[in-house]
Amino acid sequence: MRLVSDPSEMRRLCAEARRRGDRIALVPTMGFLHEGHLTLMREGRRRADLLAVSIFVNPTQFGAGEDYGKYPRDLVRDRSMMDPVPVDLVFTPEADVMYPDGAQTWVEVGELTHGLCGAHRPGHFRGVTTVVAKLFNIVRPDFAIFGEKDFQQLRVIQRMTADLNFDIEIVPVPIVREPDGLAMSSRNAYLTPAERTEALSLSRALFAARATWSAGTAIDAAGLVQIVTGILSVSPSIRIEYVEVVDALTLGAATAGRPLAIAIAVRIGKTRLIDNIALNPRDDGDGVVSH
Ligand code: PAJ
Repeated sequence: MRLVSDPSEMRRLCAEARRRGDRIALVPTMGFLHEGHLTLMREGRRRADLLAVSIFVNPTQFGAGEDYGKYPRDLVRDRSMMDPVPVDLVFTPEADVMYPDGAQTWVEVGELTHGLCGAHRPGHFRGVTTVVAKLFNIVRPDFAIFGEKDFQQLRVIQRMTADLNFDIEIVPVPIVREPDGLAMSSRNAYLTPAERTEALSLSRALFAARATWSAGTAIDAAGLVQIVTGILSVSPSIRIEYVEVVDALTLGAATAGRPLAIAIAVRIGKTRLIDNIALNPRDDGDGVVSH
C-alpha cells in the first residue's frame, strides 16, 4: 500500500500502471472507514489489477455551518483497515492542493441535484461532482465504485459520467448495514448511545414500508410516506428533513410499474443521517400511484 498526496505523482503512478496494461479501480472516500467502504474496495479489488482509494474530506461539499471541521479523521486507523483488502494506492491530497488559489471551475449536474439532499444542502452536489471529476481525471480509472447508501449521489455521478463522456464504468454497491439494521456511516461516530438506539428507527421504518409494499397491499406513495414518518415520529429526538418515494432512476415523481425508492434524511441531535430502500415494481398491477 503506497500513500500519495501529490496529484501529479498520483497521475504518474496511475498512467504507468495503465501503460503496463493494468485495469484500474477507484474508490473515492472521505475516510474514517467502515465496513461499507471496505465492501466497495473489495468490489474494486475483484474487478481491477490496481486498486486506488482516495481519502479526502472535500471542503467544497460542506455548507457553511456543516461539519467539515469536525468530520472524523484517522489515517492511521484507516490504513490498518485497508491493509487486508489490499489497496495499492491511497491518495490523500491536501485541500489547498486540490483547490489552489485561483481555482474557479465547477462541475454541476442539473435537475437530479435539485430535490432530496440537494434541496437541503445547497452547493453540496456541486462540490461532490467537482471533486469526483478531478479524481477521475487524475486517476483515469476503468471502474469507479460508489455505494447505494448515498443514493442521490450515485445517480448524480452516473449522470455526470455520461454527460462528460468519462470512459469509466460506475459500479454501484448495495448498502452495508450493522447487524441491527443501521446503515453504516462515518457520521454514526457522532451519535451518543441513546441517539444510536433512536437511529434504528430509520431502517426499521424503511423495512416496514417495504414489507407493506411487498405484501401487495393497496397503498400509494403517500401511504408509504405515512408508514415511514409514523415510525420515525415515535423517536423524540428525530427531526425529519425529508421522507420521499421517488423514481429510483430519475429521482422524479413515482409512477406505476417503475423501480421506486424511499429516501429519507433526518437529524438526530446534531447528526444528519440518510438512508433509503428500493421498491421493485410489483406484478399485481397495483402501481404505487394508481390508487
Ligand atoms: P463517504 O461518505 O466517505 O463515502 C464513500 C463511499 O462509500 C460512497 O460511495 C458511499 O456511498 C459509500 N458508502 C458509505 N457508507 C456506505 C454503506 N453503509 N454501504 C455502502 N456504501 C457506503 O460519499 C462520499 O464519501 C463523498 O461524497 C465522495 C464521493 C468521496 C466525494 O467527496
